[in-house]
Amino acid sequence: SAAEKGGYDYFMLKEIAEQPKAVADTLLGRIDPSGSLTLDEVRISPSELREIDKVVIVACGTAFHAGLIAKYAIEHWTRIPCEVELASEFRYRDPILDGRSLVIAISQSGETMDTLMALRHAREQGSKVLAICNTNGSTIPRESDAVLYTHAGPEVAVASTKAFLTQLVACYLVALYLGQVRGTKWGDEIQAVIKDLSRISEEVDRVLETMEPVRALARTLALKNTVLFLGRHVGYPVALEGALKLKELAYMHAEGFAAGELKHGPIALIEEDVPVVIVVPSPRGRSVLHDKIVSNIQEIRARGARTIVIAEEGDEAVAPYADHLIRIPATPTLLQPLVATVPLQVFACELATARGNDVDQPRNLAKSVTVE
Ligand code: AGP
Repeated sequence: SAAEKGGYDYFMLKEIAEQPKAVADTLLGRIDPSGSLTLDEVRISPSELREIDKVVIVACGTAFHAGLIAKYAIEHWTRIPCEVELASEFRYRDPILDGRSLVIAISQSGETMDTLMALRHAREQGSKVLAICNTNGSTIPRESDAVLYTHAGPEVAVASTKAFLTQLVACYLVALYLGQVRGTKWGDEIQAVIKDLSRISEEVDRVLETMEPVRALARTLALKNTVLFLGRHVGYPVALEGALKLKELAYMHAEGFAAGELKHGPIALIEEDVPVVIVVPSPRGRSVLHDKIVSNIQEIRARGARTIVIAEEGDEAVAPYADHLIRIPATPTLLQPLVATVPLQVFACELATARGNDVDQPRNLAKSVTVE
């Protein structure tokens, strides 16, 4: 009903708007005043966590994209090797697992059969499984050794939005907690990241306030056949997520690429007027990546593509090559996906609406996929 949608036309719009609160709720009560993490629901003991020699993340769809981003944070903050795998592929390739592997299963619904089968397989091999889940008491957390709930509130729209952002926050918390328990990250550093994370809710809010030009742009692209997405580093999974949102909602051909792969093939797809969305890494920090992506943008623009550039405020180097410039607040590199994904959600939602699609109930899709 209209009341359930809180005055929005679609649940998806409501859920996009709820993201600042959802992100804040995921953090709530998980950091003590001294700045250390207290993840009560993690029931794997610190001594067991100190023995872990590998992290394996299994998930599907949007949750898989959260896992791809988590890998950057986990390896950077804990120095534990981390693999990310589609849950539907995992058990069929005889993965190497034992009691020292920590498997993280990410799922909004907690009922996705592929993810459930992957975690069962992991437990049979003696691995510990930690669920990152949004649905209290659902099957995946019930069958796991431990759970960290995302507290995003119920997500009704088929396309995942607020669950994704909160999965990212939960993954960052797990990475920091592992770092804390294993001694690779200490109070001050954890506190610094937590401070950045607690500002993110406001930054997401600011992004939401500036989305009108993104909606207007999306409407102009309603008759296109293809949209391409490019990113690097954590911007690469963001590009994949932007493409998935567009596929499932707008029923368009949409593909995400690692910008560095362009020259290895995908650049052949670039032709006159193809819309290409580029997620630009911060010019601060990893400026090498920034420089490289700026030359990618130049290359594709020289071939006639319509460049839609998502770049940090104050990043002037990209401006001359952007047909459309979408600004996001400056954040530390690892946290950028929390702000960079939002315009892509809004873009897909508006474009799909302009094409006359029901964004809450896209064709052929179910909110949770309970068959393999
Ligand atoms: C996201 O927009 C999709 N509808 C889908 O990819 C989803 O993320 C995937 O099916 C996993 O669902 P889960 O998080 O409930 O396990």
